Amino acid sequence: MYNERIKKTGLEDRVTTAAAAAGLFRDKMVVASSGFTKAGDSKAVLKALATRAASDPLQITLLTGASLGHGTDGLLTAAHVLQKRMPFQVDPILRQGINNGEVLFIDQHLGESAEIIHEKIIPGIDIAIIEALLINEDGSIVPTTSVGNSPTFAAAANKIIVEINTSVPLSLQGIHDIFSAGTWPDKQLIPITETGTRIGTSAIPVDPAKIAAIVFTETTDSPAAINERDDKTRAIAAHLLQFFDHEIKKGRLLHSLRPLQSGIGKVANAVMEGFIDGNFHHLTMYSEVIQDSAFNLIDAGKLNFASASSITVSQDCYHRVFSNFEKYKPHLVLRPQDISNAAEVIRRLGVISINTAIECDIYGNVNSTHIGGTHMMNGIGGSNDFARNAFLSIFVTQSSSKAGAISHVVPMASHIDNTEHDVDIFVTENGLADLRGLAPRERAKVLINNCAHASYRDELNDYFSNACKAGGQTPHLLQEALSWHARFKENGTMH
Ligand code: COA
Repeated sequence: MYNERIKKTGLEDRVTTAAAAAGLFRDKMVVASSGFTKAGDSKAVLKALATRAASDPLQITLLTGASLGHGTDGLLTAAHVLQKRMPFQVDPILRQGINNGEVLFIDQHLGESAEIIHEKIIPGIDIAIIEALLINEDGSIVPTTSVGNSPTFAAAANKIIVEINTSVPLSLQGIHDIFSAGTWPDKQLIPITETGTRIGTSAIPVDPAKIAAIVFTETTDSPAAINERDDKTRAIAAHLLQFFDHEIKKGRLLHSLRPLQSGIGKVANAVMEGFIDGNFHHLTMYSEVIQDSAFNLIDAGKLNFASASSITVSQDCYHRVFSNFEKYKPHLVLRPQDISNAAEVIRRLGVISINTAIECDIYGNVNSTHIGGTHMMNGIGGSNDFARNAFLSIFVTQSSSKAGAISHVVPMASHIDNTEHDVDIFVTENGLADLRGLAPRERAKVLINNCAHASYRDELNDYFSNACKAGGQTPHLLQEALSWHARFKENGTMH
């Protein structure tokens, strides 16, 4: 196994246990770990660090690509290991730690986190943990199911711990495309002109002298939750697919559309699944995550190529894909997240982005992160990398939730991540608002009448017409604008 997975000679003595590798960390270190939407994350060493901290307390700053799987963020939070965390998370225990002020969280555009490290805004990385398929003869590391920020971490870290995951088949070798555009003032163009353009190498360059420990693991990635389609997600998907048909008829899109980006979650999945039955073909994706729907579309002969930074799939899909990876390999590439989410490429390719909103205000400003304006949900992720630069920026959500107590269309968003300038299309199960070419007063009418839940529509129209009487380019009644959120907090309903 060592010869198959560690091709560089002279590293045998670095092979150790996760517990021994966890002994390398010191209080106040900056630690970086591979992992992007629960794929290709550290499964042994970070867990061992949480165990060690129970008897030997220490605190670290932890940087990753995006979210970690296996409840690792929760274990680290419960063990009080996390002082600071960046750039994204989805863990309920960590979320609590962030919102009670115990963990400092930097909610960072995923496409820009590498830059912060290059520019040394965050102090130097002491240790990087990188999950690997294998170590090549020259010491370079072939990653597993995600690339994320690992090339940046490997270059910046003083020491590297490699977690070789033997559960990931060697057939993955060749799907990664590792490229760095460098740093200012010598930053290069990213020469991607199609979703499938390869511009880099198949492994992450590493100075073997920095490899401090090698740990073997055989734990698979945490499976993505299976999100069954329901009436609401089906309706949202149907509105969107009808819109794409309309754009094709108008000559603004071809049947192959433009490269697609879709966020994670049940709505995005339902929309992507909807393409299977629709009149679309030769589709491509330029996204950050490849999910079950992409493999279903490949099987249906609808999706030609998918470029992303990770593969995050359900358990069933994982076995289907990785037991027959040669079939899917010609259709896939995994890139570093500063390339999968690069503004320059997203703009050049004319990506259609589809992301989920927590709430949207009547002018189209979208809150993607904060519940009630104060409490962190997950983070901005890549939503703004894509929405800001997309050819078509689409946001979806249900019109109301919690038995109608929450309206997801509100007078004023309690926090804004994606501004009205970056939201072209907004969709709920009630309908679709095409906001392109509309001024704020026009946008409000379309958004309220097409997207808001019927039980909130009159109240929203009343708010808007009273605000218009007070005047303004973007009319608001400041004393009332956030009263819906205050009411929800006080009475448990926005009504
Ligand atoms: N007020 C109060 N609670 C709200 C709310 C609101 N306006 N909107 C959502 N919530 C609650 C829901 O009720 C739900 O709570 P529950 O778990 O107790 O039921 C929770 O927040 C999640 O809402 P849900 O509608 O199930 O969300 P989702 O799974 O579709 O995810 C986002 C929606 C916005 C949280 C998620 O897409 C996200 O984190 N986006 C930001 C990152 C991103 O867009 N990445 C894209 C690139 S991959």
